[in-house]
Amino acid sequence: MKKVLVLHGPNLNLLGTREPEVYGRFTLTDINERLVVLGETLGVEIRAFQSNSEGALVDALHEARTWADGVIFNPGGYTHTSVALRDAVAAIGLPVIEVHLSNVHAREEFRRHSYIAPVCVGSITGFGWRSYTAALRLLVEGDE
Ligand code: DQA
Repeated sequence: MKKVLVLHGPNLNLLGTREPEVYGRFTLTDINERLVVLGETLGVEIRAFQSNSEGALVDALHEARTWADGVIFNPGGYTHTSVALRDAVAAIGLPVIEVHLSNVHAREEFRRHSYIAPVCVGSITGFGWRSYTAALRLLVEGDE
């Protein structure tokens, strides 16, 4: 595992101010910085990208085929709606870990279903920003 795409979906650009009681006080930049630092200790290059657009997220997944060894993906609300993102994850043939800051199983009923999870290596949900760092460690360990 040499290069990892960290892909953040809709509304995650607002982290820090968006429902901090649910998503925590870290901004997206804070999370990305933690991942870069952890990546340095693990010998992994991190490239992070956020979009509110489903198509841009599909494009980023397709592009990852050309350079990434694995993907950490928080699809945000598209988790619960997007066949297109599920198909993209299935298509690229890279190990993808789905992450969520909040525990989606402890919230509204509609958040319990993920279109993305069945085509991922696994999912980590409910550990705040640590969901991302746990995913990075597991991606790297899964490669050993
Ligand atoms: C989220 C959970 C989703 O249900 C929600 O729509 C988000 C954030 C999380 O990280 O907890 O936007 O993916």
